[in-house]
Amino acid sequence: MQPTLTFGVFLVYFGLLSCTSATSALKILTVYTHPGKSHSDVFDPILRELTSRGHQITTLSHFNHSTPEYHFETLLFDTPINHLDINFDNSADFFGPVVIFKFAYASCVNDLKSKVVHKVLHEKSRHFDLVIVEAFVGDCFVPMGHHFGAPVIHVSSSPLITWFSPRFGQVINPSHVNNFLNAPLFGMNFLEKVKNTLQTGGMIYAYYYFIGMAHHYTSARSVYKNLPSYDDTIQNVSLALVNTHGSLHGAVANVPQIIEIGGVHIAPQTDLPKNIEKWINESKDGVIYFSMGSMIKGHTFPEEKRKIFLKAFGRLKQRVLWKWENETMPDKPDNVMIQKWMPQYDILCHPNVKAFIAHGGLLGTTEAVHCGVPVVVMPQFGDQHTNARALEAGGGGVVLNFREADEEMVYNALKTVLDPEFNKKAKELSARFRDRPMSPMDTAIYWIEYVARHKGAHHMRTAAVGMPLYQYLLLDVFGFLAVCTLSILFIGIYVTKLFFRLVMSMFSKSDKKQKKLKKN
Ligand SMILES: *[C@@H]1O[C@H](CO)[C@@H](O)[C@H](O)[C@H]1NC(C)=O
Ligand SMILES: *[C@@H]1O[C@H](CO)[C@@H](O)[C@H](O)[C@H]1NC(C)=O
Repeated sequence: MQPTLTFGVFLVYFGLLSCTSATSALKILTVYTHPGKSHSDVFDPILRELTSRGHQITTLSHFNHSTPEYHFETLLFDTPINHLDINFDNSADFFGPVVIFKFAYASCVNDLKSKVVHKVLHEKSRHFDLVIVEAFVGDCFVPMGHHFGAPVIHVSSSPLITWFSPRFGQVINPSHVNNFLNAPLFGMNFLEKVKNTLQTGGMIYAYYYFIGMAHHYTSARSVYKNLPSYDDTIQNVSLALVNTHGSLHGAVANVPQIIEIGGVHIAPQTDLPKNIEKWINESKDGVIYFSMGSMIKGHTFPEEKRKIFLKAFGRLKQRVLWKWENETMPDKPDNVMIQKWMPQYDILCHPNVKAFIAHGGLLGTTEAVHCGVPVVVMPQFGDQHTNARALEAGGGGVVLNFREADEEMVYNALKTVLDPEFNKKAKELSARFRDRPMSPMDTAIYWIEYVARHKGAHHMRTAAVGMPLYQYLLLDVFGFLAVCTLSILFIGIYVTKLFFRLVMSMFSKSDKKQKKLKKN
């Protein structure tokens, strides 16, 4: 063969090989309805990575995710965003049912009415290979998959919220699986199990009937043509990428469609701003980083608590970096530096940062675990309580009740986590968290492309999907076995009785005969 021909055959061969083993460029529709920044902080890196691997993204969202470097077709919902200002007074009941219904209404009923939804559904040229829908409170965009004949993937910026579990046949046995709010992680006592069972069941049924089903047969029906039933729609979701990792949130029995990508938002470190780096560099006893996240603002920080923290800081050798949104802070001691905005992850991973005071939001918690910095956690609402307890159980921090905290408690909590032994435990947790067969981002991309390659990958469903609860709990089988056992028991008793009666009657007959004989 001539060399050029050989080369040509070679090229064709490898061309075919790469076609079959890799996924060619996909057209992906992503729908992120919740207007919270901590949610898009998880999704944006995934979108950017998909783009850099050659896939084409169209995104329906409240934010413009596009950057000059990473271009997405962004279709903004024209519904107004209900900005949520959370402070220390209202945060306790923040994740109550009323708020969940409000979120659900906004992200389903309102967003579905947007002009951009109509545009996506009815422009003739539109075609998608894959649909990615945020899993939070609502299923109004899941039928997009059926509309385009494309598989649907869920992405959750938190652990999978309890009400999404049944569609995957996920194990939700409340004897040992906590619902995502409030329940303790390990060793529930009897009353806690009762509470966990009621909460889990309540959440699942309330969501199914009053949010999922209700919106499906009202809002979704008026938007999509030939809408399948609600069950068929949600049970068709291929898999869920969830922002957890067993090393942090505790081991759970996940079905194959639940893929853990905890830490996916963590990007390579970048340089710190010079003033912050200098301050950290120059503190010979290390630095404590203090931030209550992006939703709870400094000006809502109770004055009396602020004084308590400052007094506790005054008793420590360490310097403190405090994320504080106001220009100044009254009676700020010299070892405290305030900044409105701080590159949190880069700060946490600086070797001189020895402790983190936080609210237990998942992203900050994950970053601290990744960097191996021990945390004093003061959870406020929602999943923060669960994250905090998980962190404490894993040796990565201690939980401090913010409302009850006094100077002594703050000081002691900080002393505890600043101890070198505690630091060692946090480093061990970090090592467990990072030790995986693939990085969280590679895992996410692998499974997204996997679903496209295998046309929905529905072989990953277990037989539990769509099974009625009484069958799932084996109530029919136990019922049947109970009936069998009882029947055998009754028949046994009946036969025995009959037998004895027969024997007795035979005896009494022969008795009578004998009596008769005697009389005669
Ligand atoms: C289920 O998903 C497939 C693609 O995986 C899609 O073609 C089909 O229309 C979907 N069915 C329903 C009922 O959503
Ligand atoms: C901080 O310390 C590191 C390592 O010693 C050094 O590379 C960096 O230039 C220092 N930065 C500043 C602003 O002093």
